[in-house]
Order: sequence, then structure tokens, then C-alpha cells
Amino acid sequence: MQIILITGVNDGIGHALAIQYAASGARVLGVGRSALPESLAGSVHSDDYCAADLGEAGAAQKVQSFLDARGVTGLDVIIHNAAVGWYGAVQNQSSASIRELLSVNLSAPITLTHALLPRVCAARGAIAFVSSVHSVLPTPDFAVYTATKAALDGFARNLRLEVGNAVDVLVFWPGPTRTQMHVKSGIPKEKIYPERYASPEAVAAQIITGIRRRRSQALGPINQVLRWCASHFEFLVDTAMVTVARRARYEKSRRPL
Ligand SMILES: NC(=O)c1ccc[n+]([C@@H]2O[C@H](COP(=O)([O-])OP(=O)(O)OC[C@H]3O[C@@H](n4cnc5c(N)ncnc54)[C@H](OP(=O)(O)O)[C@@H]3O)[C@@H](O)[C@H]2O)c1
Repeated sequence: MQIILITGVNDGIGHALAIQYAASGARVLGVGRSALPESLAGSVHSDDYCAADLGEAGAAQKVQSFLDARGVTGLDVIIHNAAVGWYGAVQNQSSASIRELLSVNLSAPITLTHALLPRVCAARGAIAFVSSVHSVLPTPDFAVYTATKAALDGFARNLRLEVGNAVDVLVFWPGPTRTQMHVKSGIPKEKIYPERYASPEAVAAQIITGIRRRRSQALGPINQVLRWCASHFEFLVDTAMVTVARRARYEKSRRPL
């Protein structure tokens, strides 16, 4: 039986990943900061749930002790999915929020990888990072979030060289997905378009397929094109985005108070 460790299983894409993996017969070990929700009762056994706040310094050791206590010496897949967002200009973001984004989105996946790598090597498994199509596509109001995802991409690229054939290092780049992340990040309701976004179930299914095929990918054809363009024509994309941002600021300044 495959053993899959997923961070951030309590909501959104992580929740969908847990349900789909469990339905396929895998044992899902979940990590989350609050109590295991009822909706996961049939997918994550209560004893296989590790309550840990990934923003806290000792989180990686906590997960390690959790695995030791259950005698889990091999992990087939780790999915670094948990993340937090924040919406607005950097100058308006509190330093506590900046620290939280850096801890949860970047430090936690790196320190967890460091702590758990021997167990993934033992299973000749895979480490998957859930990044974002925004890691190469600049947009105003997400600078710190985007920076954490771009740094995670960089970590994965380097790690892949280090581990060679011992472990598969994969990155998935979803685009906008219909989860609570936008609301939690403080994006105004009128700027959220859930009807245009992919469902978390569809995104989870694409991640699972990518892991099975051992292939990193942007999720969905539009995000594949966006990522390809943003990676190959960085200067043009940045120039276009600066123009769009300037225009938005100008329009805003002309609106009556
Ligand atoms: N939604 C999108 O449009 C989108 C687009 C591109 C990439 N992504 C990426 O997809 C991944 C999943 O996001 P999502 O949209 O499913 O968001 P979500 O619904 O908010 O789920 C994120 C999960 O991470 C957990 N988490 C947050 N902070 C944590 C902490 N300190 N310790 C432990 N767990 C913590 C959350 O717990 P709580 O339930 O307690 O908040 C939640 O279970 C993230 O890496 C995100 O960056 C999302």
C-alpha cells in the first residue's frame, strides 16, 4: 500500500488530494493546523493525522516524531501543499504576515524535506511541491506570496540535481482554483471569480496523474501557455504587466472619491 503524506489536508486542494488518494487505496498521512474535519473521516484515519502548525519553528521535528511513533520508515510521496496568501501592496503588509508567508510557504517545505528525505529515499518515492502559475507571472498585490512560490521552484530545481535517481522531485503549477484561499488572503469578494476557476477536485486529480507519471507540469492548457510565455518572454511579459498595473493605478486615481 502506498503511503502519501500531504500537508494542508483540511481544506481546498489538499482535502481533495486526501480523498482521491484514499479512494485509490493509499494510506494518507495528513498534516494540518486544526482538528481533522469530519469530511475526511473516511479518508484519513484519526491516528494518521498530525496536528502541526507549519508556521512554527519545531513543525518538521513534530512531523518526524509523528512518523517515528507510527513506525513509518518509508514514504512513497510527500505533497507540500499547505500555504497561506496575503493580498495587497507590500508596504501595507504587516511584518508578522510576511514572516508567516515565508514560514508556511517556504521554510516549512524546505525543513520538512530535509527532515523526511531519508524516508522518501527508502521508498524510492517522490516529493511534490504545489507552486503556482504566478511564480513566473508577476501580478500586483501578491509579491510576497509569489516570491515564496518562485523560491520553492528554485529549491526544487536544485534538489532534483542533488538527489539524482534516488527520489523524483516534482513541481505543479496550478492557476486560480475554487478554494477558500482567495477569501482567506483578503482578496475583495468583487475580485474573486469562482465560476471561472478550476475545481479543487480537478486540480487534485491532475496532480495525482502528474505524480504517477513522474512529470512536473502547469495544470490545465491555459496555465501551460501562460507559464511557457512568462518563462520564455520574461522581458515582454514584465513590460506588459507594468503597463497594466500603471493603467489600473491611473484608472483608480480618476475614480470619484
Ligand atoms: N487556490 C488557488 O487559486 C491556488 C492557485 C495556485 C496555487 N495554489 C496553491 O495550492 C495549494 C493549496 O491551496 P488551496 O487553494 O487549497 O488553499 P486552502 O483551501 O486555503 O488550503 C490550504 C491548506 O493549508 C493549510 N495551512 C495554512 N497554513 C497552515 C499552517 N500554518 N500549518 C498547517 N497547515 C496550514 C490550510 O489550513 P486552514 O484550513 O487552517 O487554513 C489549508 O488546509 C497552496 O500551496 C496554494 O499556494 C492555490
